[in-house]
Amino acid sequence: MSRDSDPRDESEPEPESDPASAAATDGGAASGADEVALDPWGSSTVADYRRLFDEFGIEAFEDLLPEVPSPHYLMRRGVIFGHRDYRPVASAMREDEPFAVLSGFMPTGDPHIGHKLVFDEIVWHQERGGDAYGLIADLEAHAARGLSWDEIDEHARDYLLSLLALGFDPEAGELYRQSTNDAVQELAFELGANARFAEFEGIYGFDGETPVSHMQSVVTQIADILYPQLDEPKPTVIPVGPDQDPHMRLARDVAARTRFFRVTEAYASFELAPAERPVVAAAYERREAFAAEPDRPRCVEAADWLATADLAGHGLTAEPGVVDAAVEKLRNAGREPLEPRTRLLDRNATEEAFAALIETVGGDKRVYDAHVDAFDLDATAAEELARAVEVAHGGFGFRPPSSIYHRFMTGLTGGKMSSSVPASHISLLDDPEEGYEKVTAATTGGRETAALQRELGGEADDCPVYELYAYLLAADDDEFATRVYEECVGGERLCGDCKEQAATLMREFLADHQEKRAEAEALLDELDVDLETDRVGDRLVAPGED
Ligand code: TRP
Ligand code: SF4
Repeated sequence: MSRDSDPRDESEPEPESDPASAAATDGGAASGADEVALDPWGSSTVADYRRLFDEFGIEAFEDLLPEVPSPHYLMRRGVIFGHRDYRPVASAMREDEPFAVLSGFMPTGDPHIGHKLVFDEIVWHQERGGDAYGLIADLEAHAARGLSWDEIDEHARDYLLSLLALGFDPEAGELYRQSTNDAVQELAFELGANARFAEFEGIYGFDGETPVSHMQSVVTQIADILYPQLDEPKPTVIPVGPDQDPHMRLARDVAARTRFFRVTEAYASFELAPAERPVVAAAYERREAFAAEPDRPRCVEAADWLATADLAGHGLTAEPGVVDAAVEKLRNAGREPLEPRTRLLDRNATEEAFAALIETVGGDKRVYDAHVDAFDLDATAAEELARAVEVAHGGFGFRPPSSIYHRFMTGLTGGKMSSSVPASHISLLDDPEEGYEKVTAATTGGRETAALQRELGGEADDCPVYELYAYLLAADDDEFATRVYEECVGGERLCGDCKEQAATLMREFLADHQEKRAEAEALLDELDVDLETDRVGDRLVAPGED
């Protein structure tokens, strides 16, 4: 296959949506009860969040918390539990550099308190200087969920009103719907050139029966995710639930495939596989031990040393075969000097762009057919330079988008919080009295009798009411959230009073939120968001299809 038609560069490091991890995203069809399934259109419940770290490479948010300036309470309380590559965003916030935040909502029902988490995350990043975007995933709702355009219009308005009521600034940020954003749809078409059906099969379990519009809604989402970088590449965070992670992995892979150049580290003219690099690096570091001229070590000398060295004794572990492969490459290079360098590979660049790149690389350099080796440029500087040349020559220059993941809220009746079970969730449109009633009727982590509760304490960790405090009702007041928790597990707090207090706070929250929604009506009407679609086409897909 020629390079032009193959979106995957041979020497590319492991793609994030590799089939091994994608296998579990088949909608749960093939997964056992204790496996984690990440299915954007299924009913994702996540029993064990820690497994997402091992299975999908999501990182623990906790480890990054110290790098986030005055973190949001959802971050402090572990509700935002994971991330993918959030560091560049945290660093942009600290350094006052450009960054963006974007998330999207399928208008399939009323916005509820689970969506509020994401609304808050968008607003928080906007308040910290991010370019903020909120979008209505109407194409997806139509294609993947089979909603009619009338239903979509009705719900779309409600999502936007709640986002505005929670503080989104539409002057500084942008609200849009997928169906009317031409730039997003053009971008989706371009990006589709870098995505293959076989990947969709692997990642989403799509097959010959999957409607093409549903597939199109996937490339549209990838375009949404990269849209904030159309003006200028910048770190972008996508706050979502972990069920959306398959889209993030795909977006990161597709973004990488559009890049003109790729930066790697090399030690000689030949290419090393990622696993071989540390092996050769270790040899280079120990050149004093084997080189006749230590300031000019030769590849073959390194090969001889590696072939006999006690690598474990040097603290180096490598998969079987990796050392042999590195030794062979080094031996084939003979007396070529072993010298670390930053390599800029031409992946998709035009001739002019590659020529410009060569021109721009400063210091000592060596030019080859499809790459240039720079001896006085570190990898970070090379990345920036490559991006600048790409952008100057009409490329996107995308940075890999980042994501943060929040826990799903437990339903008030136990189990999953579901939009289709009204008693399980509190809609942001619920009458405040109704919200009050739902909280008083909720399942708790309480004991059978008050006496037992006083003796053993309640189980706050398994209590949907405690979650309401931690995720919403205690807002920024950590001291209050902690007090509820400790009083509960210490047996001083009984469920009746506790629910009464939560229900009252919920009633106040809903009344206040709805007042702000009413105020936001006028604001929304002034915005350039068309909330009355004149598209034809109803129920393209049977509603049960998902
Ligand atoms: N697929 C998302 C959902 O099911 C909605 C969505 C569309 C989205 N585009 C997005 C989310 C971009 C985050 C970023 O809710
Ligand atoms: Fe839940 Fe409150 Fe009862 Fe504790 S006291 S179990 S937090 S309802």
